[in-house]
Amino acid sequence: MTRRSIGIIVNGVTGRMGYRQHLVRSLLALREQGGLALPDGTRIWPEPILVGRDEGRLRAVAERHGLTDWTTDLSAALAREDAEIYFDAQVTQQREKAIRQAIEAGKHIYTEKPLAESSAAAMELVRAADAAGIRTGVVQDKLFLPGLRKLKRLIDGGFFGRILSVRGEFGYWVFEGDWQPAQRPSWNYRVEDGGGIIMDMFPHWQYVLEELFAPVRAVTCLAATHIPQRVDEAGRSYPATADDAAYGIFELEGGVVAALNSSWCTRVHRDELVEFHVDGTEGSAVAGLRRCRVQHRAVTPKPVWNPDLPATEDFRAQWTEVPDNEEFDNGFKAQWEAFLRHVVAGDPFHWDFLAGVRGVQLAELGLESAREGRRVEVPELTR
Ligand SMILES: NC(=O)c1ccc[n+]([C@@H]2O[C@H](COP(=O)([O-])OP(=O)(O)OC[C@H]3O[C@@H](n4cnc5c(N)ncnc54)[C@H](O)[C@@H]3O)[C@@H](O)[C@H]2O)c1
Repeated sequence: MTRRSIGIIVNGVTGRMGYRQHLVRSLLALREQGGLALPDGTRIWPEPILVGRDEGRLRAVAERHGLTDWTTDLSAALAREDAEIYFDAQVTQQREKAIRQAIEAGKHIYTEKPLAESSAAAMELVRAADAAGIRTGVVQDKLFLPGLRKLKRLIDGGFFGRILSVRGEFGYWVFEGDWQPAQRPSWNYRVEDGGGIIMDMFPHWQYVLEELFAPVRAVTCLAATHIPQRVDEAGRSYPATADDAAYGIFELEGGVVAALNSSWCTRVHRDELVEFHVDGTEGSAVAGLRRCRVQHRAVTPKPVWNPDLPATEDFRAQWTEVPDNEEFDNGFKAQWEAFLRHVVAGDPFHWDFLAGVRGVQLAELGLESAREGRRVEVPELTR
């Protein structure tokens, strides 16, 4: 067995995503399974180089996992020959600058979404990366969720007939931070710090809609800041300047309509924190993070509207669970594996920087629609 070590700079490793999903659940999990096997028997062995701003917190993360390679000096990490990949899970605002530096250093780059704060800036990163001849990738983790994988399987198998519409509910109550600490970082609620639910979630909706159904051709969006004042990590009250809920309608190529609500100001009365309800002429499905349930045309009951009587039917019981039929690994890890194969073995990987620009573009157009109170068409993006 040949081991192929690959140095990966992990910037933002003390953050929620950088630590839990990318370091622990992806890169370290790969090491725990003995590396990533390639068809020729080689095993790719990630060597994380932890980068962050706070020496104490970095050291603590490293020691917790028996790692020794960490630094607060990004330039020094980028200058290392054994560091082949730069990965960015910093707050969104810091990303563009660091990615530019990594492009100049000739590293392959994988990054959290959104790729940049504007589609123009994101497109410049595409061009710079193309010119440097590096390989790029942007996290599109929702595609790897078991619920959405099963939904995709139904679509590919022709279960729905003609798909008519998608209704999605994403959200949960994020505490304001006063009498209970907020469960998300406060920068998310300040537009001046790169926050906002549209910039956070529309990049996800873009690739979910495009890869499962069809590309988005127009967006109509209403944005709200329902909670105007929040309390930060240090207990200080601050004005929440960013949108904390977005009510969007997405028109897809071919006529499918997707209406997706995204909110940090809603209490969950659902089975999962995100659910997509898909209606087609032959059947319908409700897919969440892990589960997917269906109702076929042939077994669709005939509800009759009668407000004078209490509901007698157990509507949820009229759906059938779609079996897993396979093992689903952590979605972040699955995409890391694909990116590592892309870098080391040249396997195809289409979630590149250009795919990342499309996500930023949809967020930007959603914000434009909300600001101007109108429907906005989504122009085709090319390199
Ligand atoms: N794929 C997903 O499902 C998903 C989910 C949540 C967040 N994200 C993305 O991941 C990124 C990080 O989000 P998070 O929730 O982990 O945030 P976080 O606040 O928990 O972590 C941010 C990281 O950036 C670092 N950082 C660097 N410069 C900073 C600065 N000037 N101010 C504050 N922090 C700074 C912090 O030290 C920390 O390591 C964001 O770009 C976000 O859009 C993706």
